Amino acid sequence: MKIMSILEIYSTNNCLHKLVVISGWIRSKRVSKIGISFLTVYDGSSIHSIQVIACKSLLNYFTEVLKLTTGCSVIVTGYLQLSRGLLQVYEIKSCNIQVIGWVNHPELYPMSAKRHTVEYIRNFCHLRPRTNLIGVVTRIRNMVFQALNKFLNNYGYFWVSTPIITSIDAEGAGSVFKVSLLDSNSNCKIQTRSEINKKLNFFGKEVFLTVSGQLTLEAYACSLSKVYSLGPTFRAENSNTKKHLTEFWMLEVERSFTNIDKISQFSEKLLKYTVSYVLDHCISDLVFLQKIIDPNIFNRLNDFLNIKFINIEYSDVINILKKNNINNNSVISWGDDLLSIQEKYLTDNYFKSTVIIRNYPKSLKAFYMRVNDDNRTVSAFDILVPRIGEIIGGSEREERLDFLENRMNEIGLNSNNYSWYKDLRKYGTVPHSGFGLGLERLVLFITGIKNIRESIPFPRTVGSADF
Ligand code: 4AD
Ligand code: MG
Repeated sequence: MKIMSILEIYSTNNCLHKLVVISGWIRSKRVSKIGISFLTVYDGSSIHSIQVIACKSLLNYFTEVLKLTTGCSVIVTGYLQLSRGLLQVYEIKSCNIQVIGWVNHPELYPMSAKRHTVEYIRNFCHLRPRTNLIGVVTRIRNMVFQALNKFLNNYGYFWVSTPIITSIDAEGAGSVFKVSLLDSNSNCKIQTRSEINKKLNFFGKEVFLTVSGQLTLEAYACSLSKVYSLGPTFRAENSNTKKHLTEFWMLEVERSFTNIDKISQFSEKLLKYTVSYVLDHCISDLVFLQKIIDPNIFNRLNDFLNIKFINIEYSDVINILKKNNINNNSVISWGDDLLSIQEKYLTDNYFKSTVIIRNYPKSLKAFYMRVNDDNRTVSAFDILVPRIGEIIGGSEREERLDFLENRMNEIGLNSNNYSWYKDLRKYGTVPHSGFGLGLERLVLFITGIKNIRESIPFPRTVGSADF
């Protein structure tokens, strides 16, 4: 039985003296002089651990129980009873403790019961889910994933998987990882040119890890109308910050016959649904975060639900930043990309709210965004949340073939590589729009943790791809 279920049974039925069996790991052990050991056991089903009372009358008390250390795995059979201790309401009085796995050299076990820094535990990504913090974040991340799928299914969106290996650079920004069979360790001299070519040519062309599934998703939106994908994406950018990963998960939503107003309102709904889903389903995990990460977490998340996002034009943002001198020691002018401190000023100081910025200069955005009538801006939107900055990027897509070709030429993209994408504009083109949401940025926002590396099980960042 999971510790989580015991908690539920206890609070609904008050099932004292019920025989239960739990399996999990020892978090800590205290031994009293009178021949009783107090074991704290957790199984990851919730933030709650349970106290297990082990008396010397147990057959293996002296041979095994006394030797248990943090991290050992056990199966405990015993009776649920009210606890006399102040730290818990109930506990298990064990009648059998089966030791499943010992910890070799407990003095070397990196996840001892004391609190470690997140930087320290990052060195042990295979063991860090045993810490309370990573357990909490993992359960919340799971709920975020469930909520996104649920919301989109409720609205009739179909899940589509887009390719991870691709021959196109979907953002046209050049930050792609090339995929090839060439082994850099092998001595190239002993490989013949034809062997090398064969390896390079596994797919018959250059291929990369995807930076976004959007373009392929558009093909499905232009036939199934409402679609989404949710998967890993890879960016070869040299951005070693607390909010950038090299491999991150992105939800991409694409809808035909719609415009920027509707799709941005829809993305606001989706974010609010997800946050309220987490508030409804992860209360004890959030209480833990309130204690150790963000005392204001409940107010912060409730404000997020209750306050309508601010909608503002990029041009107006530039004026606000100019007027308030948020220039980072240089002159800000129309056409400049926003710096992190400027985004933070808008969300955390000026508006004190989540902000949707619209209609960016086309030079700042990808080639597929629909050009506005002024021919200098595109119908794009970014959603910025307090403390984190951009969490969603979206736009209307350029559905007019001639405009699309012009944009590709303007930025020097070889439009022959995108011939299938252009076909979508040749054969029954439709106005369509979509957006991408960074899953880890959303987890970062909800949990209040400081570094995006704690929002994903095995972080990949510049200079680091362990495990
Ligand atoms: O704004 P981006 O680059 O948009 C796209 O890739 C579009 N093709 C999406 C679409 O319209 N279908 O990325 C979308 C979101 C960002 O707003 C951010 O939340 C997240 O992906 N993101 C990152 N998250 C973590 N680490 C990184 N290096 C990220 N780069 C983008
Ligand atoms: Mg973006």
